Amino acid sequence: MTAADPDDRPDAALLAALTPIVGGRGVLVPGADDDRLASYATDWRGAYAGRPALVVLPRTTAEVAEVVRACAAAGVAVVPQGGGTGLCGGAVPDASGRQVVLSTERLRGVREVDVANQTVTVEAGVVLADVQRVAREHGLQFPLSMGSEGRCTVGGNVATNAGGTAVLRYGGMRALTLGLEVVLPDGRVWEGLRGLRKDNTGYDLTQLFLGSEGTLGVVTAAVLALHPATPRRATAWVALADLAAATALLGTVRAVAGERVTSFEVMSAQSLAIVLAHVPGTRDPFATAHPWYGLVELADGGDADVEGLLEQVLQEAVEHDQVVDAVVASGPRAAAVWALREGISEAQNGEGPSLKHDVSVAISALPAFVAHADVALAEVLPGVRVVSYGHVGDGNLHHNLTKPVGWTDEAFLAHADRLTATVYASVAAFGGSISAEHGLGTAKRDAAAAQKSPVELDLQRALKRAVDPAGLMNPGKVLAAE
Ligand code: FAD
Ligand code: MLT
Ligand code: ZN
Repeated sequence: MTAADPDDRPDAALLAALTPIVGGRGVLVPGADDDRLASYATDWRGAYAGRPALVVLPRTTAEVAEVVRACAAAGVAVVPQGGGTGLCGGAVPDASGRQVVLSTERLRGVREVDVANQTVTVEAGVVLADVQRVAREHGLQFPLSMGSEGRCTVGGNVATNAGGTAVLRYGGMRALTLGLEVVLPDGRVWEGLRGLRKDNTGYDLTQLFLGSEGTLGVVTAAVLALHPATPRRATAWVALADLAAATALLGTVRAVAGERVTSFEVMSAQSLAIVLAHVPGTRDPFATAHPWYGLVELADGGDADVEGLLEQVLQEAVEHDQVVDAVVASGPRAAAVWALREGISEAQNGEGPSLKHDVSVAISALPAFVAHADVALAEVLPGVRVVSYGHVGDGNLHHNLTKPVGWTDEAFLAHADRLTATVYASVAAFGGSISAEHGLGTAKRDAAAAQKSPVELDLQRALKRAVDPAGLMNPGKVLAAE
């Protein structure tokens, strides 16, 4: 690659091959397009950065297929990218300057809404909030919900098997995806857009691509399952003495309200403090601080009095000492309560780098896991701030860490590996997972491999080799490149 002989550059040859496929406006080139290119070289949070050879913006599945075929012919790796909100570095190219970023941002079509079948077929670049809106416009709902929904895409949701705040009732992306269209690493298109709830015809290829993080192909479209709308909602914000009270409350809420329980989230006092400090317009619903807080949401489509039901649940919880204080909210007050929960991720960035630990253990083991991890963390770095919160109804905590007050980012990051290893050792001690919903990307790839048996790793590598023998589809993500 020399400036004196530009035609010898692999990216120049590739540029010549790709431009006729996607048009001049569909390729961004380093140098000429640096301003626009920068955002594709990093994730949304700015935690990971790389150097793309080119950024390609195809408009159709056929264009994606031609782009992937051209890259395969040139021996160039492809990095699929949606909204860039992934938290593990999966959508970011490496630093070599030789990987092509394939952005789905121009694949934004809604292909079909089948109201009777309760499905929607959308292209990969459609933003999650837009799927939710389309479903609402047809009197239905798409229940996947998370703080990044205004930017993350269906392709990214499929590729990461995204979770969020309604998994307790509806399941995550695995449960909500019925069919896929995927461009394979050699450029062939697998047309699997079946809106079937039952299909027992051999290996389940749709599920193979769920959570594959762009390493097996580019998802170009998906058939998603919709659900009946649940316009009646009631939300409670509760004060909890400890995490054991949260798991006990979860049992009470589920016993009384059954499938109407849509969300059961918790956040520690430290998490709330960070939100109140960094998110404008937020305020503490209670006059005094408490060790933990919970957010419970019930929803119903009929004429059930969900607010009354929630009050009944909370009454019972107070009688059993599961709750110290509670407010029930609906409408704008419920939105204010949700802002306290959804604001944590961004608020934590305001305190410097956040060491993200997206872990899960059995719900019954959550209190002991947190106690175990926090003692060990305080030994590794006294004063480290544990910003623990998440989807307790799924046994999933974001046991994130922020630097001690007064520390520089650099001094804190020097302890990052040891702190993360400490959290993961506690996860292992309780038989948990180090990635409940965010995936592995590059961030957790090696730690996950270290916890898997040789048999499991062999099977995973065999799958990768079978679908991507040249190893050019998002190499180095999920599994180390071979
Ligand atoms: P990207 O970040 O662009 O990509 C993520 C991965 O998917 C990469 O490996 C990429 O290569 C691959 N990919 C993207 N598009 C395709 C495609 N079309 N075909 C093949 N591979 C593809 N996640 C949760 O699960 N639950 C949460 O509650 C949650 N909350 C969040 C809150 C905030 C504030 C933020 C910033 C993130 C949150 N996330 C959460 C993480 C993130 O939003 C999800 O992982 C989301 O699914 C990523 O979608 P994306 O379009 O941004 O994907
Ligand atoms: C969330 O639930 O808010 C995110 O998944 C967690 C995070 O940003 O760490
Ligand atoms: Zn989460």
